[in-house]
Amino acid sequence: MHNQFQVIQRDWLEAVEAIGNTSIDLMYVDPPFNTGQTQTAGAGSYEDAWESTDDWLAWFRQRLEATLPKLKPTASILIHTDWRTSHRVRVLLDELLGEDHFVNHLIWRYGLGGSSPRRFARKHDDILFYAIDPESYYFDPPMVPATSNRMKGQLKKATDVLDVPSINNMASERVGYPTQKPLALLQLLIGACCPPGGTVLDPCCGSGTTLVAARQLGRIPIGADQNPDAIHITRERLKKAPSPSG
Ligand SMILES: C[S@@+](CC[C@H](N)C(=O)[O-])C[C@H]1O[C@@H](n2cnc3c(N)ncnc32)[C@H](O)[C@@H]1O
Repeated sequence: MHNQFQVIQRDWLEAVEAIGNTSIDLMYVDPPFNTGQTQTAGAGSYEDAWESTDDWLAWFRQRLEATLPKLKPTASILIHTDWRTSHRVRVLLDELLGEDHFVNHLIWRYGLGGSSPRRFARKHDDILFYAIDPESYYFDPPMVPATSNRMKGQLKKATDVLDVPSINNMASERVGYPTQKPLALLQLLIGACCPPGGTVLDPCCGSGTTLVAARQLGRIPIGADQNPDAIHITRERLKKAPSPSG
């Protein structure tokens, strides 16, 4: 079971139709951020423009609502957004699940990016963590290097601010897909929020970072993307990704 995976070239909305009810342990989604641009890099591009934030939210809500029945009663949800939509997504999740199902507002602090004379530099993304059942979701606290002098060289439990460098230009994991996320970030999230052997769904999988990390950690990945370039890259990456069970 551990070495299986599923990669679906479809719109998120259609892709989840084929997934069994109450079968997913963790949904992580890194949707288009509503930047108003076409996201382009060497290995592909995707449209990221809506008329308004309301339109983006309607798009997102429809897909999220279709996905919720696919999650196990013990499942968790991680929604990766930024300053453009995180506040709207939080209100949406409070409405759909209940505000007591909120677990964390994670900050992914990535360091890179420009500065502005008009405001504080924007150097983080937001990852909203909700549980289907706040009493029974899985959580294995990830350990990260301690930074204080007193604990130098030791590990400590991660806080809700995750310091993970974004992928540098020379990194071997870089595949050239726009907005590719670092494997280290997904490994940390999946290890913490999906039980070993569990199933991870990423319905906007892009270059397949979530699927590769899930496979490396002995979880079963299911990914979808409507972009054929993304699906091709994901399949190629998965071919090379070792799973603990071979
Ligand atoms: C932010 S990127 C994901 C990047 C990915 N996390 C990675 O590490 O490569 C968003 C992805 O959503 C996909 N997408 C946009 N609309 C979609 C839809 N309706 N259904 C499925 N995928 C969609 C885009 O093609 C793009 O690959």
